[in-house]
Amino acid sequence: MRIIQSESTAEAIRITAEAVLERVQSHPNSVIGVATGRTMEPVYAELARIKRERAVDFSKCFFFMLDEYVGLPAGHPSSFREYVHRHLEAPLGLRRDQIACPSIGGDYEQTLKESGGIDLQLLGIGQNGHIGFNEPGSTKDSRTRKVVLTESTRKANQSQFHDEEVPREAVSMGIASILETKSIWLLATGTSKADAIKHVLNVHDDPKCPATYLKSHAHFTLVLDPWAASKINLKI
Ligand code: F6R
Repeated sequence: MRIIQSESTAEAIRITAEAVLERVQSHPNSVIGVATGRTMEPVYAELARIKRERAVDFSKCFFFMLDEYVGLPAGHPSSFREYVHRHLEAPLGLRRDQIACPSIGGDYEQTLKESGGIDLQLLGIGQNGHIGFNEPGSTKDSRTRKVVLTESTRKANQSQFHDEEVPREAVSMGIASILETKSIWLLATGTSKADAIKHVLNVHDDPKCPATYLKSHAHFTLVLDPWAASKINLKI
């Protein structure tokens, strides 16, 4: 595991966006795994900004989404598919057929396999240590499947739904699917992630904190802003 402790949130965001850009510039037909959520919004904004500056070509890339809520109608503004449309597809000028979204009844694992696998996986982290929607209790051999969201995750995501109920279920790539990706970049920003990050650094393969499984991956980079890193001390 490589840990990058940045001087500011803006720097952490820039480092993460640059990792994607470097990959796409050196390998235009890259397969990228994308997370949604508040942490990633400025990363995608930065990608779009740099794309305009450097004319990066995303037309040969393919994108796999990590997860999606179950039960939202197509086009629901709080669905992750709409999030990806707003923050990635439209700003980067992607085609709809460049993006795959997990769904009930679809064979996502087969689609992943046929793509040749994800070259670079972007991840956020839940306050409870979830990655994708692999909530505490998820096993290391889990694959894309329907999952039940914890109350704490539903509460954390309530602001995206205004007065509506947050769905109780989702479809998520599994831990095994994530560990098969060729490189992983997890970005954590803000004090609300500090406890989860401390746990990730101190504990190994803990089902109660699924992000701990990532430490067995050979190419795992953890990018932290000063607040997410505020409960760890790497300078001893
Ligand atoms: C979303 C996802 C989740 C989020 C996590 C953090 O696709 O996979 O694991 O990364 O819930 O969400 P934010 O960034 O909103 O704090």
